Amino acid sequence: MDHLFYRRVLMATFGLILTAAAGFGGQGAKSGIQKSTFGKMPDGQSIELYTLTNRKGMQVAITNYGGTVVNLIVPDRNGKMADVVFGFDSLEGYLGTEPYFGALIGRYANRIGNARFTLDGAEYKLEANDGKNSLHGGSHGFDKRVWKAKEIAGVEPGLELTYLSKDGEEGYPGNLTATVVYTLTNNNEIKIDYKAVTDRHTVVNLTNHSYFNLAGQGNGDILKTLLMINAAECTPVDATLIPTGELRKVEGTPLDFRQPTAIGARINADDEQLKFGKGYDHNFVLTRKGRGLVLAARAVDPDSGRQLEVYTTEPGLQFYSGNFLDGSVKGKGGVAYGHRSGFCLETQHFPDSPNKPNFPPTDLKPGKTYHEVAVFKFSVAK
Ligand code: BGC
Repeated sequence: MDHLFYRRVLMATFGLILTAAAGFGGQGAKSGIQKSTFGKMPDGQSIELYTLTNRKGMQVAITNYGGTVVNLIVPDRNGKMADVVFGFDSLEGYLGTEPYFGALIGRYANRIGNARFTLDGAEYKLEANDGKNSLHGGSHGFDKRVWKAKEIAGVEPGLELTYLSKDGEEGYPGNLTATVVYTLTNNNEIKIDYKAVTDRHTVVNLTNHSYFNLAGQGNGDILKTLLMINAAECTPVDATLIPTGELRKVEGTPLDFRQPTAIGARINADDEQLKFGKGYDHNFVLTRKGRGLVLAARAVDPDSGRQLEVYTTEPGLQFYSGNFLDGSVKGKGGVAYGHRSGFCLETQHFPDSPNKPNFPPTDLKPGKTYHEVAVFKFSVAK
């Protein structure tokens, strides 16, 4: 047997391996975690980017600055990959003012009315960073903090992030240690496990603030995205987006997403709630029996077929249709994020719960563990 024969056999074998690796949506991709430098804090501290890859080639990149999801690369119905979340190419973009792209939000996600609440007879004053209200934990919330990161190697790669929010930080009582674990499963899910403990009675409400465009970030608006939200009720708001305390049926209103409906179908309807939110910016009361993970929402981009399902243990989901985006923020690859070009599905307890005794409680006592889970599952629509 000659040299040429061996070369042919070798090349054929190599070709087979390549085909196997590329086929079936990238089955057989090398899963794992890759760490790179994302930038430096003003004080010189180095910030990292952890890129998690699963066996199907799906990737999620997370930085320990704000525990932020920076890139999320998923296939469409033809196996074509695209990055479906908003963000910046380096740390610098996140250091300026930006609308919480991909970040972990705490100590209290969404709004607290009049930037104050009372606990055990004591009043706590927060920063009013959204008119007279407090939004997303104040202007130096968990999204603006450096988290301690630990890589979790295994069949499914993960990243554990820890942050100690000191007693009095942003006005909140108690030393609160938050531990958030991101896991990328081989079933194309990002699982976010949130835990927190405190040494003093406090309030806590954690979420992730990713902006999605299932056609790919920078690929037009999200108005034709089909959305289903598993909620028969919402918590209507006043003109400053603070819940009135009422649980209102969505039936017969533009907030009824129980059947898949294009986000844009009713977004400009003559409806007081939509006027207050400048579009959708509302908390939905998820339909559930008891605790545990339930399907909260399903979004489908009809062109690419990319589908996102959100599961949560939480009682609520904030659907925000990117109404305050106006193209002034330039993100990854120089993309200008235009009006309603991304949507958020934030798993949460209801906004302003510390001031709403009829809402599920958000207080946490020493000795107890806050524990919530969210799952973002990607697939293609049938
Ligand atoms: C809020 C919006 C806010 C956005 C931050 C959402 O969670 O509901 O009102 O503008 O976060 O950019």
